[in-house]
Amino acid sequence: MKSLALLFGASLASSQYVPIPWSYVQKEPPVEITVNAHTRFQTMMGGGCSGAFGVACDQTGASGLSPANQDLVTQTLFDENLGGLSILRNRIGSSPTDGILGSCPSTPSSHFNYTWFPNASTADSCQYKLTQTALKYNPDLFIYADAWSASGCFKTDATDINGGLICGVRGSNCTHDWRQGYADYLVQYVKFYEERGIKVSMLGAYNEPDFNPVTYASMESDGYQAKDFLEVLYPTVKKAYPDLKVSCCDATGARQERNILYELGSAGGDKLYDVATWHNYQSNPERPFNTAGQPNLQTEWADGSGPWNDTWDTTGQLAEGLQWAMYMHNAFVNSDTSGYLHWWCSQNGSGDGVLIRLDNDSFDVSRRLWAFAGYFRFARPGSVRIDAKASVENVYVSAFENKNGTIAVPVINEAHFEYDLDINLIGTKAKKVSAYLADNTHNNSLVGHYAVHGSSFKASVPPRSMTTFYLE
Ligand SMILES: *[C@@H]1O[C@H](CO)[C@@H](O)[C@H](O)[C@H]1NC(C)=O
Ligand SMILES: *[C@@H]1O[C@H](CO)[C@@H](O)[C@H](O)[C@H]1NC(C)=O
Ligand SMILES: *[C@@H]1O[C@H](CO)[C@@H](O)[C@H](O)[C@H]1NC(C)=O
Ligand SMILES: *[C@@H]1O[C@H](CO)[C@@H](O)[C@H](O)[C@H]1NC(C)=O
Ligand SMILES: *[C@@H]1O[C@H](CO)[C@@H](O)[C@H](O)[C@H]1NC(C)=O
Ligand SMILES: *[C@@H]1O[C@H](CO)[C@@H](O)[C@H](O)[C@H]1NC(C)=O
Ligand SMILES: *[C@@H]1O[C@H](CO)[C@@H](O)[C@H](O)[C@H]1NC(C)=O
Ligand SMILES: *[C@@H]1O[C@H](CO)[C@@H](O)[C@H](O)[C@H]1NC(C)=O
Repeated sequence: MKSLALLFGASLASSQYVPIPWSYVQKEPPVEITVNAHTRFQTMMGGGCSGAFGVACDQTGASGLSPANQDLVTQTLFDENLGGLSILRNRIGSSPTDGILGSCPSTPSSHFNYTWFPNASTADSCQYKLTQTALKYNPDLFIYADAWSASGCFKTDATDINGGLICGVRGSNCTHDWRQGYADYLVQYVKFYEERGIKVSMLGAYNEPDFNPVTYASMESDGYQAKDFLEVLYPTVKKAYPDLKVSCCDATGARQERNILYELGSAGGDKLYDVATWHNYQSNPERPFNTAGQPNLQTEWADGSGPWNDTWDTTGQLAEGLQWAMYMHNAFVNSDTSGYLHWWCSQNGSGDGVLIRLDNDSFDVSRRLWAFAGYFRFARPGSVRIDAKASVENVYVSAFENKNGTIAVPVINEAHFEYDLDINLIGTKAKKVSAYLADNTHNNSLVGHYAVHGSSFKASVPPRSMTTFYLE
């Protein structure tokens, strides 16, 4: 008490504002958290980002990043003990210069002259280089190869930009049906990677088919039209690569994706994809997805309009780490989402579409990455989300059991004060707990160890933070 009185006395005497350390503030009662491994939900796929549209060239040295820092940036993102990302979303090019078909065959039965020069300096060769480096730091890297459009010659608008439909789907009205041609094109892209020893794990034919930008690769599709194409693509993929997953449809928002899935299902196509992929731009994942049992994955989001921001929590805007932790929580818990991808990985520039900003040979890591790490360093691909509940609304808790029985319990404290936690464990054999903290001054760093007594342990979480408890 004496030291407290001195503290207040000093602050009053000098008429200066002295923030009261949160440890002296009257505390709320402890939050009861219950983790129950008997109640199980979705299997996790991981977190990731993309080097599409040539930005992978910056990460592979085109704007002054030295070879040592190229490795360090990629390691920071993809190493299990750093950023913990495990998914790389590569764009399959669609123009005569960035795609694999320099010129169009005259009919669907003509020869398709595919070419790919990964050693040339094209956008795709940079993605290839980035893929190789990411594999160095995560040998189990999950590569999602996704097309924004079919080649112009397969489409109603005869160009890979400006929307348009795949010739052959309902409403398309073209001389030829190019659906098989486009399906073969996508599979050929996977073959080019395979020939170089790289396994592509998931293939997508669409990017934001509910949106029609004039200036870059794009193609429209509703769910009915997706059925007409996927009924060609899906068997083509499974014949060539039984394990290669097929995605649909990278819609602009969760609600937009649900609309497409509804139409696809109505048309009889609900078994023609393996993963429902969606972006978080236009609408949030407030409820489960209407898949036929397939997992869903958030495959692109960023604060596209804003300037670079690397903060954890200053004003609670989209750009900040704490907000991303909560967005991910909502997706995992409310929509059973299996993973979450940021838009770009890194770029030399001043925008906020990236996790790491490059500036010639220096780089700055956004604390958004530590929100990803709080989940994906510890809830590894193949882990299963298990039930977790907190007794108050402003503590967000989720839990994930890895294949070997270790458990990750990310706890976000949204309150502006510290909370004590009583964490009760059901159905686990955990004995030892390590806590990793992300907040304004910690980058997902190890801050403490706890022992499990019986089947519970006590801990505390600082204000506006994310603490991941890792249980062994
Ligand atoms: C990289 O970023 C720096 C700082 O924003 C800028 O001066 C430089 O021109 C950029 N380099 C390239 C190749 O874009
Ligand atoms: C195939 O494409 C390559 C590169 O685009 C070109 O150099 C070659 O001449 C083409 N071959 C044929 C038979 O058209
Ligand atoms: C790039 O690789 C291709 C084979 O994949 C080869 O034919 C071509 O000569 C190479 N180009 C350069 C510039 O090394
Ligand atoms: C389909 O194309 C033909 C020939 O270009 C045209 O006459 C016809 O009006 C088109 N139909 C529709 C529904 O667009
Ligand atoms: C990040 O964004 C917040 C909220 O807009 C702002 O207060 C903060 O100054 C920004 N930080 C940087 C480094 O831009
Ligand atoms: C970029 O970095 C290199 C190596 O550190 C240096 O030689 C060059 O002057 C830098 N360029 C700019 C524009 O800062
Ligand atoms: C955390 O990362 C930021 C960059 O995002 C860096 O400026 C800061 O020094 C790091 N802090 C610690 C404690 O590592
Ligand atoms: C259990 O699995 C996790 C996730 O793959 C891994 O990080 C950890 O080292 C494993 N622990 C043991 C004891 O094998």
